[in-house]
Amino acid sequence: MRILVTGGAGYIGSIVAADLLAAGHEVVVYDSLVRGHAEAVPPRARLVVGDTQEREKLLTLFQEQGFDAVMHFAGLIDAGESMRSPHPYFRANTAGTLALLDCMLASGVSRFVFSSTAAVYGEAASVPIPEDAPLEPASAYGESKALVERALPWLHQARGLRYATLRYFNAAGAVEGRGEAHHPESHLIPRVLGVALGQEEHVPIFGSDYPTQDGTCVRDYVHVADLSAAHAQALAALDHHPRLTYNVGNGAGHSVRQVVEAARRVTGRRIPTVEQPRRAGDPAVLVANSERIRRELRWKPRFETLESIVASAWEWKQAHPNGYMPAAEAVR
Ligand code: UFG
Repeated sequence: MRILVTGGAGYIGSIVAADLLAAGHEVVVYDSLVRGHAEAVPPRARLVVGDTQEREKLLTLFQEQGFDAVMHFAGLIDAGESMRSPHPYFRANTAGTLALLDCMLASGVSRFVFSSTAAVYGEAASVPIPEDAPLEPASAYGESKALVERALPWLHQARGLRYATLRYFNAAGAVEGRGEAHHPESHLIPRVLGVALGQEEHVPIFGSDYPTQDGTCVRDYVHVADLSAAHAQALAALDHHPRLTYNVGNGAGHSVRQVVEAARRVTGRRIPTVEQPRRAGDPAVLVANSERIRRELRWKPRFETLESIVASAWEWKQAHPNGYMPAAEAVR
């Protein structure tokens, strides 16, 4: 297939783009490079620099290229940031996605794989969280994605859109030369490993009074290679099922403290921590019930333990301490 990958210069998008190319697909990456890295784009993919809200540019691209499908990774992803500054989240994630959908449907492209998030659930009543739990986001970030989710069935009904919504839990780890490199980095595992490398003095623990076993937030960490596999499987399934929604997580919860302990074991470094107040927009627990994707798509994560995921991230961090940036330009 000929696939447009928005956000293909980002962490998850670049890894999926590489996997799609390896599986024999043609890939065009569309990325604003505001947060992505041109160096992350697989060499065999064509990179077009642009924003999802640039309608004319997108329409021309769709007309020129004749895509069979769109995988949409482009967006803002930091729940904490979205609480301080919600507007860019609704602009990029909600308005940007609707603009992209409009252009693709106007160009006769109907297959859409959407990067959604566990953040759409907020503080869920039952854990592990099934897909039919209510969407009650606790952050503007989660809301910006949930709004798109709510639009998709209507676009299916009115315009024949075929969509697979993948609700990612916490993506982590790296794959042959591609890994996590956000600037600034907000995510727990790369920050913990930055402390292990001596880039920062300590890991801030955002909140130690949550109603969890050790008082810190619990998340479901899933390896990015396993996440990538889910995309290929979901795209193939769209041939037979026009509306798909899946949680993509391991189904195991680990607290912030457990992540730090796993990183101490993997790296052999001390990794000091400092307790800080809660970060706005963080639900206490996000753990997936991933039975649906396991059953329907036969998806099965290869990285099942937290240690194996942290070890993969550590390998990348040691080889690329400043991500894709040369040391002199690195932003802390
Ligand atoms: N945390 C710390 N210290 C840090 C960084 C994070 O204590 O230095 C805590 C956070 O408060 C949170 C947990 O570690 O409780 C995980 O935080 P991340 O920032 O790594 O990830 P989030 O759960 O906030 O969000 C990530 C992705 C989202 C996705 C979500 C799904 O960024 O896109 O996982 O669970 F929606």
